[in-house]
Amino acid sequence: MIYSRIAGTGGYLPEKVLSNNNLEQMVDTSDQWILERTGISRRHIMEDHETTSTMAEAAARQALDAAGLTTKDIDMIIVGTATPDRTFPSTACILQHRLEAYGCPAFDVGAACAGFIYGLSIADQFIRNGVAKRALVVGAESLSRIVDWTDRSTCVLFGDGAGAVILEASGQPGICSTHIHANGFYNDLLYAANHIGELKEPAYIKMQGNGVFKIAVKTLDDIVDETLAYNNIDKSEIDWLIPHQANLRIITATAKKLDLPMERVILTVQDHGNTSSASIPLALNHGVRTGKIKRGETLLLEAFGAGLTWGSALVKY
Ligand code: ACO
Repeated sequence: MIYSRIAGTGGYLPEKVLSNNNLEQMVDTSDQWILERTGISRRHIMEDHETTSTMAEAAARQALDAAGLTTKDIDMIIVGTATPDRTFPSTACILQHRLEAYGCPAFDVGAACAGFIYGLSIADQFIRNGVAKRALVVGAESLSRIVDWTDRSTCVLFGDGAGAVILEASGQPGICSTHIHANGFYNDLLYAANHIGELKEPAYIKMQGNGVFKIAVKTLDDIVDETLAYNNIDKSEIDWLIPHQANLRIITATAKKLDLPMERVILTVQDHGNTSSASIPLALNHGVRTGKIKRGETLLLEAFGAGLTWGSALVKY
């Protein structure tokens, strides 16, 4: 049997930090409201010269270093993003150029906040069936560029950044299973228009936050059950929950479902805000680099986002 395992992780956050107090000067909000409703204190905001692909490159190079590999070793590049540098080519192709890793397949996955889990799932299939040996999977987002900075209901939520993993073929799991889903019935609950489609509105994030919130909690509950049942394991066997970092209240609900104390949850939402597809690989990288997550431990990754899309991965790190 061939499995895929995580050989290295990397992350990149822009230097500039926007605090809740900064936001108080911009819109009618308060540090207290943001903290109580979301758990977010600050978020990183990219500079004008940065793009999704520059941030992806920084995260990818760090993941390659951690894996002890070079750009020449990669035979597949997948980027989860809702904020590509250009409509085409894919950000993955631009990243491939930045890394000079020419020749291997490179493509983006559009699944909003679940983009990284979708990418991980695809790469895992390619490695399991022997087509790829070492895949670079990235989640990278320039959300500050599609946020309406006058809309207090969304501008306080999002941040920029990129996270990456190198998956490589292994005789042992690795990725035990991935589970991905979508329900397009709810595509209007959370979206960003563009100048191509039928919506004649500015290209900003629009969200019916409360509607999304309720579906997210229930759906993540279900995917935890699905993942545990598929692997025939008990929730007590999970060492770390690495959730999509959208809202501390949603994360707390999932931890409760797993009977996991919050000390066993990798939390970055307070410092990163919601970085969409970048949030899970950034949290994973944070957990690894702070020495919390150790080799051999069992991780449950889960995400929920626009689409609606959702997914999970059970990983033996
Ligand atoms: N500051 C102060 N007040 C605010 C702010 C703000 N920044 N934003 C909204 N409010 C007000 C509203 O106007 C409303 O006031 P009203 O009661 O007078 O009308 C009140 O606060 C409550 O608003 P709600 O939207 O009901 O607040 P809620 O408790 O639902 O929190 C939030 C909003 C944080 C957005 C929450 O609903 C949420 O996290 N939703 C899920 C987000 C998510 O998971 N998205 C998926 C991933 S994102 C992706 O895929 C790109």
